[in-house]
Amino acid sequence: MWWWLLGLLSCVLLAAVVIFFLISGKRYKVFSEKCLRPPGPLVTDTKERDERLKKGFRVDSVPPALDAVVIGSGVGGLTAAALLSKAGKRVVVLEQHDQAGGCTHTFQNKGFEFDVGIHYLGQLHENSLLRVALDQITDGQLQFRRLEKHFDTLILGQQDQRREYHIHAGKTEMADSLKKQFPGEEDAINEFMRLMKLASRRTPLIAILKILPYWLVNFLIRTGLLHYISSVFHLAETNHSEVVSRLTQNKDLQALSAYLFYGVPPKESSFLINALLLHHYKRGAYYPRGGASEFAFHIIPVIQQAGGAVLVRAPVQRILLNQQGKVYGVTVRKGQEEIEVHAPVVISNAGIFNTFQKFLPQHIQDKPEIKSLLGMVRHGMGSFLVFVGLDGTKEELGIVSTNFWMYKDNDLDVLMERYSSLGRDEVVGNIPMMFITFPSAKDPTSNIRHPGKSCMTLLTMARYEWFEEWEGTKLGKRGEDYTSLKNSMAQELLDWALVIFPQLRDKVVMVDAATPLTNVHYLGAPRGEMYGAEHNLERFTPETIARTRPQTPVDGLYLTGQDVFCNGMAGALHGGLLCASAVLDQILYIDLLALKRRLKHTQFNSKLF
Ligand SMILES: Cc1cc2nc3c(=O)[nH]c(=O)nc-3n(C[C@H](O)[C@H](O)[C@H](O)COP(=O)(O)OP(=O)(O)OC[C@H]3O[C@@H](n4cnc5c(N)ncnc54)[C@H](O)[C@@H]3O)c2cc1C
Ligand SMILES: *[C@@H]1O[C@H](CO)[C@@H](O)[C@H](O)[C@H]1NC(C)=O
Repeated sequence: MWWWLLGLLSCVLLAAVVIFFLISGKRYKVFSEKCLRPPGPLVTDTKERDERLKKGFRVDSVPPALDAVVIGSGVGGLTAAALLSKAGKRVVVLEQHDQAGGCTHTFQNKGFEFDVGIHYLGQLHENSLLRVALDQITDGQLQFRRLEKHFDTLILGQQDQRREYHIHAGKTEMADSLKKQFPGEEDAINEFMRLMKLASRRTPLIAILKILPYWLVNFLIRTGLLHYISSVFHLAETNHSEVVSRLTQNKDLQALSAYLFYGVPPKESSFLINALLLHHYKRGAYYPRGGASEFAFHIIPVIQQAGGAVLVRAPVQRILLNQQGKVYGVTVRKGQEEIEVHAPVVISNAGIFNTFQKFLPQHIQDKPEIKSLLGMVRHGMGSFLVFVGLDGTKEELGIVSTNFWMYKDNDLDVLMERYSSLGRDEVVGNIPMMFITFPSAKDPTSNIRHPGKSCMTLLTMARYEWFEEWEGTKLGKRGEDYTSLKNSMAQELLDWALVIFPQLRDKVVMVDAATPLTNVHYLGAPRGEMYGAEHNLERFTPETIARTRPQTPVDGLYLTGQDVFCNGMAGALHGGLLCASAVLDQILYIDLLALKRRLKHTQFNSKLF
């Protein structure tokens, strides 16, 4: 029975280190229930919104005596900045695009409003950790609308072979509805749900690998002690297909277990991450009231209150290092000039590749620590989006808030492998998967903001290589071949969507598309990545989990956002929490959990009396 002893020993060691961190050092008071105000009215005035979301970079708009510079205004950057602001630090966020928000920015086209990277969110039920954290960084101003319990439909196969499966949210409903749809698969579904719950409950241990000193994590990995602490590390490094093939031989159920695509075939992806993605929506799917741009709109004031600012049209070129190799600021391109912005801490939300390969000088990039870190991650796959404007309200068009995931075949391993190995000329006519969503149907304020108009977004994955030839060409001037490829892909997806929604055929008044090159332009994604670094199996091995942490080999330089933890609004926010914890040298999760407990207590008492 010696292994139990070993497990116990490692747990005690871990607890000792966590306690040491807890009691040592100064502590900032970052969170408080006092900051929570009742949500204000929705601001629809464009001028008022732009003043906050589109404040342009000028030398005199940079606050003096900065404590930190954040490169990029995605959820990861804004979260880190807001948390530091709450700790009394003065922070400037520099954004290359002409508006703040990163993937949460929205854009208007012919009177239609589209979101870019927020289709639906989970884990936002009352007093969830995510909700409590979001309330803190927005002073309670961000509101969400719960979508229908039936939040996703999965469609497998084509024409008369088509099978539809419905995914329901709810603590017990999710499993119950699956069991009804897959009679005879009860045991497999129960076991899948058990593993999903385990994955979710033990995810904090994944975060702890990024918080504990690296030497300690390395010791736990090298000695194999890590696996005695929890089986979550095994789930993280086991491929999805392997786990699921042990549970069931039903191909449709296997496909359903990994239907939320992000560019990696199930056999090359971590079971943990797929389980977490589905688990994310188990307690309900949500959409921000007022649209995705509400994120930045409500986080920015918190940064401003502490004397900081969020400035757009501020493309960072370089990170400045002194003789000792310590960070002291960044440079921003303005016209032909490069303007220096100084601060002792630089936080990058621009992703691991931009940070090390674009912002740092060659001799730093060549350092073995950085080379080995970059060797652990790969560029993720790009996305292809079609934005469709529809004439009519949700009721008139008969559209719903439920999302649709379509696959032409139920063997997702074969399907995805085949798709991503296509050459550029083979793509058109061969797109095997698509996601359909109706943003306007999810937002109760949509009809107030854009009366009589609805929108539909179609999404699939796309390889950067298919568009690489036009790298460096300017937006809107990429040439006929590019436009033709883009339009043909868009048409193919639209035709496919209209098979499912034939009533929309005569209602389409606007179509626009976005390729991986669009992601390069608007999101600063170096190879058009949809979700930053690839979420492959390698990324979830304990070594890579521990190495991809906010601290970098460069003194004073930190990472935040989706490359630190994982993709999604929630993933990026956790990146921000980990990052601010590293900068402040204080594990903010502990403060957040304490606040959550207090809030639960007050809620309980107020319900009682
Ligand atoms: C099409 C799509 C759909 C999605 N759907 C969902 C969903 O339904 N639910 C969900 O939870 N998540 C979804 N996501 C994922 C989610 O939006 C992202 O994972 C998350 O928002 C990433 O946040 P981030 O802060 O890490 O990065 P980003 O939001 O990408 O922010 C990085 C920022 O850095 C800026 N930047 C880059 N280089 C520079 C530079 N040199 N100087 C200054 N600034 C720079 C960029 O312009 C950008 O604003 C989706 C993503 C996409 C693309
Ligand atoms: C997934 O796991 C199975 C079983 O261990 C293995 O045979 C297969 O090679 C793995 N796939 C990948 C791509 O690692």
